[in-house]
Amino acid sequence: MIRHITRIGLLITVIAILIVIVLNHSNDDETKVTTDSSTHASHVQLKNKIPSPYKQIHLIIDSEKTKSYTVQVMKPVTTSETINQEIESWLETEKQLFIQSLPEDTKELASLKVNVSIEPETKQYQRLIFQIDKSINQKGTELKKVFNIDLEAEKMLSLDDFLDINDSLLQTFLKHGIELLQVEDDITLSENSQQSILSSTNNWEWFMSQEGLTFIFDGTTLTDDNNHPLLVTIPFKALYLHIHDSMNQYVELSEKQQEERKMAIEEEEQRILIAKREAERKAQEKAEAERQQSESTSNVKGKYVALTFDDGPSAEVTPRVLEILKQYNAKATFFMLGSQVSYHPEIAKRVADAGHEIGNHTEQHQDLTKLGPDGIRREINSTSDKIANVTGVRPYLVRPPYGAHNENVRHVAANQGDSIILWSVDSLDWKSRNAAAINREIGQQLTSGAIVLMHDIHPTTADALPELMKTLHQQGYQFVTVSQLLKIQGLSGVGPIYGSSK
Ligand code: NI
Repeated sequence: MIRHITRIGLLITVIAILIVIVLNHSNDDETKVTTDSSTHASHVQLKNKIPSPYKQIHLIIDSEKTKSYTVQVMKPVTTSETINQEIESWLETEKQLFIQSLPEDTKELASLKVNVSIEPETKQYQRLIFQIDKSINQKGTELKKVFNIDLEAEKMLSLDDFLDINDSLLQTFLKHGIELLQVEDDITLSENSQQSILSSTNNWEWFMSQEGLTFIFDGTTLTDDNNHPLLVTIPFKALYLHIHDSMNQYVELSEKQQEERKMAIEEEEQRILIAKREAERKAQEKAEAERQQSESTSNVKGKYVALTFDDGPSAEVTPRVLEILKQYNAKATFFMLGSQVSYHPEIAKRVADAGHEIGNHTEQHQDLTKLGPDGIRREINSTSDKIANVTGVRPYLVRPPYGAHNENVRHVAANQGDSIILWSVDSLDWKSRNAAAINREIGQQLTSGAIVLMHDIHPTTADALPELMKTLHQQGYQFVTVSQLLKIQGLSGVGPIYGSSK
C-alpha cells in the first residue's frame, strides 16, 4: 500500500516539474491572459497547454489569481469530448465550492491546487487520479478523486465493468482490507471511522490494477497521522470468483494470477457440487424418514389414544406430566395458552424438544364465539407466533377454549389452514380434582381412536397419570399425538375433529 502512495507521488512530482517548465515559458503562444475587472480588480486567468507523456491525453493548466485566492488546476484533455465534459464539470464544481467556502476575513491568500496523475493500465483503461490540495487560513486539506475511463468506448468505468459483486460482500472484503492495513502499517482506526468508511459506498474512490482493487481514503474519510490519504488494496486472490471475463480488456492478470483464478473457480465449482449432493442426500433422508413415519402410523394395529393437555404450560404440573409420559415413551399433545407460553417459554420448549405436539389454545382463554373475526384472529395468531418463536414450529391445531366455536371461528381457522380439535373423552379433571375419579371417568369412556381432554395445570391430573398410563399400556393402547391420530383416521381439514367415542 505504501508502494502505491510512492508511485502516485512520483507521477505527481514528474507532472509538477512539467508545470514549472511551462510556467517559466509563460510567453508561450498557447498562453492566454484575460483580465476580468467586473468581480476582482486584478483577476488574472492563465491557460497553459503542457506536453503530456500520454498520447491520448494532454494537460492544460488553468490558473487564476485574485486578491484573496489562487487557483491552479491541472486539467486533462482526452480524445473524448464526453469524458472531457464530465471531468470539466467536476473541476468547475470543485472550484466553485472552494470559492464559496472562503471566509470573509481571509487573512492569508487561500489556494486551491488540483493535480492529476495519469496511469494507463491497458490501451482501454486509464486511471486519472486527482489530488486536491486546499489551503484556507493556513488550514490544509488533501483530497483524492478518481476517474476510471475507457477512452475507446468513451465512458467512465464503474466497478460493475470489472466485478460482479454486491455492496455487502465488498464491504466484507474492505473490512478485511482495513484490518490488514492496521496490522501491516500499524495504523489505528476508531470504530467510528471504520463505520463511516464502510457505510458510504457511494463515495468510495477506487481503481483497479494488477494488484487488485484499491480504495483511496482521504481527508473526508480516512488518513494516517500526517493527514495523508490511505490506500487499501483488496488483492485479486479475494476477488477471483467475482471477476468479469471481460475485465481483461482493462486489467490483465498475470499468468500466475490467471492460473490461481482457474483453480479458485474449479474449487468453487467442486464446493457447489458437494453442497448440492449433500442437499440431495439430506432431502432423500428426510423423504425416507417421512415414509417410515407414515408407514408406522398407518400401520398402527390395535388400539391407540391421543392424550391432550390444555391451559399450560405450568411450572409445577407440566414437568411432572413430561416425566411420566417419558417412562412409557408416550407422545401427547399440549394445547398451550399464549399467555402461559410467555410466562414459561423454557417449559414450552422442553415439551417440543421431548417430541410432543404443541397446539394452540388461544392467548387469553376467551370464548371465541363472543369475538369478531379480527379478535379471533388476534387470539389465535399471537399464540401461534409465540409458540413458533419458542419452539421453531408453528402449530396448526387449534382448540378453542370451552370447545366453543361458530361460523366465524371455523371461517378464520379455514382461511389460515388451522384445524379445530375438540375431544371425545372429557376426564373432568378440572371438576373432580381427584386422581381416582379422573381414572374412573376416562376408563368408562375410552375407546380406540379417542381424544382425551386433560389439563396440565392441576396437580391431581399429574397424580392420576401413573395409574392411567399403566392401565392403558396393559390394555395395549399406543399413545399418539393428535396429528398422528388424524393421519391414522385419514382426517384433516378445519374440523371440528372430536376423535372416536363409544
Ligand atoms: Ni382450556
